[in-house]
Amino acid sequence: MDLSTVIKERRSVRRYSDKTVNFEQIARLVDSARWAPTAANLQAWEFQVTVDPKKIDAIRSIAPGISRTSRAIVVISVDREKARRKGGAGGEMLGLLDACFAAENMLLTAHDLGLGACVVRSFHQGAAARLFGNPEHIVPELLVTIGYPEGGQTRGPRRRSLRELIHLEKWGNPVPGRFLAQFEETSDGAAPAAGVDLDAALPVAGEGREPAGEADRPPAATGDEGPAAEGEKLARLRETLIKHLCYLVSSARGLSWEPREYGPFRLIDACGRLIGIMEEYGLKSPRLAAARDLIEEKKLAVMDDPETFNQAIDQVLDILVGEL
Ligand SMILES: Cc1cc2nc3c(=O)[nH]c(=O)nc-3n(C[C@H](O)[C@H](O)[C@H](O)COP(=O)(O)O)c2cc1C
Repeated sequence: MDLSTVIKERRSVRRYSDKTVNFEQIARLVDSARWAPTAANLQAWEFQVTVDPKKIDAIRSIAPGISRTSRAIVVISVDREKARRKGGAGGEMLGLLDACFAAENMLLTAHDLGLGACVVRSFHQGAAARLFGNPEHIVPELLVTIGYPEGGQTRGPRRRSLRELIHLEKWGNPVPGRFLAQFEETSDGAAPAAGVDLDAALPVAGEGREPAGEADRPPAATGDEGPAAEGEKLARLRETLIKHLCYLVSSARGLSWEPREYGPFRLIDACGRLIGIMEEYGLKSPRLAAARDLIEEKKLAVMDDPETFNQAIDQVLDILVGEL
C-alpha cells in the first residue's frame, strides 16, 4: 500500500475477530516503532507484548479505554531514568512524545499488514506496571490493542478540512483555494459518507453486554449444579466482580484528567456491564434486559446530546426501580 493510502485509510479499530495474530506480525509492528523519530535520540522506550487472553482480560479491567478484547496488546513504556538522564528536566515529556510517534508507526504498519489497532491512554498506569512486573522507572504510557478487524473497514470520525486548519504565514490567513481543491475530497471524504460511527469516535469503555471477564465466561446457570460446580461458579463470580471493581476504580482515577463527559459515560457503561454480569450468572429479567438495551443504545449520546442521555438515564432508573 502506498504511504498516503495507509495514512488516510487507517482508523482506530476496536472490534476484533477471533483470528489470532502471530508473533512475527507483532515483531514487525514493534520493529517499525523503533524507527520512529526520538527526541535527542533518547530511545527510552520499551515494548511489552502480551498475547495471553487471561492477561489481556486483566489489562482490560484496568483500562476503561479498551472497549473490547483484542488478540494482542503492546504496552509502550518509557524508561524514566534514562529519559531524565539523557533528556534533562524535560526528559519525561520527551519520552512520552517519543512513545506517541512510536505508536503511530505501529498503527500504520498494522493497517498495512491488514491488521487493526487502537492506541489507548485511558488506563491505570500503576496497575499496568504491576501486571507486567515493571521496575519502578519503567512506566507504561500507551497501550496498543491489536487484532484482525471484525466486520470490514472501520469507519471513523470526520477530520476537519484542510481549508479550515491551514494558515499561510499569518494566523487566519487562508491558503488560496486552488491549492486546496485537490484535498477537498480526501480530507473530508476519507471519513464516512453517511453519519459518524460514534463508537469508533470515542475512546470508550466496553459494551454493557460483554461481561468484564469475557475470556473466562462462565456457563449459564442451570439451577441444578452440585456443590463443587457451585463453588467453582462462586470463584468465577468473585474474579469477574474483582475485574469489574478494577474497572470502576481505574475509571474513577481517570476522571481527574479525562474529558468531563466521560464521567457519566463510565458510570452508565459500568451499569451496563454489571447487568451483563448478572445475566451471565442467571439473574435475568425482562426489565434488566430492557435497561441494558437502553443503556447500550443511548450511552454515547452523552457526547453530543446530553438531553437524550439524561432522559434515557431517567428511563433506566424507572425500569430498575420497578424491579424492587
Ligand atoms: C493520545 C491518544 C489517546 C487515545 N486513547 C484512546 C482510548 O483510551 N481508547 C480508545 O478507544 N481510543 C483512544 N484513542 C483513539 C482516538 O479515539 C482516535 O484516534 C480518534 O477518535 C480518531 O479516530 P481514528 O483513529 O479512527 O481516525 C486515543 C488516541 C490518541 C491519539
